[in-house]
Amino acid sequence: MKPLVAGNWKMHKGPKATSEFFERFRTPCQTDEVTLLVFPPILSLTAARKAVDKGGIQVELGVQHIHSEVEGAYTGETSAEMAAEAGASYALVGHSERRQLFGESDADTRVRVAAALRAGLVPLLCVGETLEDRQAGRLEAVLRRQLDAVVAFPELGESLARSETPLVLAYEPVWAIGTGETATPEDASAAHGLLRESLRAAFGDQRSRSIPILYGGSVKPGNSRELLSSPDVDGVLVGGASLDPRSFAEIAGSAC
Ligand code: PGA
Repeated sequence: MKPLVAGNWKMHKGPKATSEFFERFRTPCQTDEVTLLVFPPILSLTAARKAVDKGGIQVELGVQHIHSEVEGAYTGETSAEMAAEAGASYALVGHSERRQLFGESDADTRVRVAAALRAGLVPLLCVGETLEDRQAGRLEAVLRRQLDAVVAFPELGESLARSETPLVLAYEPVWAIGTGETATPEDASAAHGLLRESLRAAFGDQRSRSIPILYGGSVKPGNSRELLSSPDVDGVLVGGASLDPRSFAEIAGSAC
């Protein structure tokens, strides 16, 4: 499977800083070696699209948050269709900051995954446990609950079971996000193994192996190579270290 290196910029970089990033970003990889993906803030998506197209830069773009409806009276929201029109090809769903700070539920992640697929976007579904969950031995139960809310749901699950329906997962332990604390490669592999097992139970062996599982949580140039070479880790989702074009390029370089 081709590794996927994704950068989640969160609420960083307006249109100007976004254009500047892409002026400075130089990928060390060939297109066929690794897929690179950036999630800028929605307001900077058009600037990112322009910069990437103008520079012939091999980077896919995604949207950090989508509403489930196509359009309507939902002040402040953006539909998957609008993001696709502005140049996104991926949609982040269920990031722990959305779950924790904005109260997104498992049911919300399900309708957003469905909305992404409806608009032709690849859903990138994030799951992960809090420190409290981990210490209480609830890792497996939490991951299964978050994943099953999407993959075991009638119709949506049937659609995702088909190999032509795109899906990417990211395992992001909440205690490792933005804290400088990274899961060990062994912890990451163990959690990814649990996710792969759940996918296998839902979709069968072949399909389960076609769904990339990324690791996220304090990924940096100094730890990305080791994480990327761990069993069942198919890529990384990078927050803070994706904001600097050089460090994002270094992380990309550890995948090719
Ligand atoms: P971080 O964020 O790399 O800054 O820990 C990861 C994420 O939230 O996706």
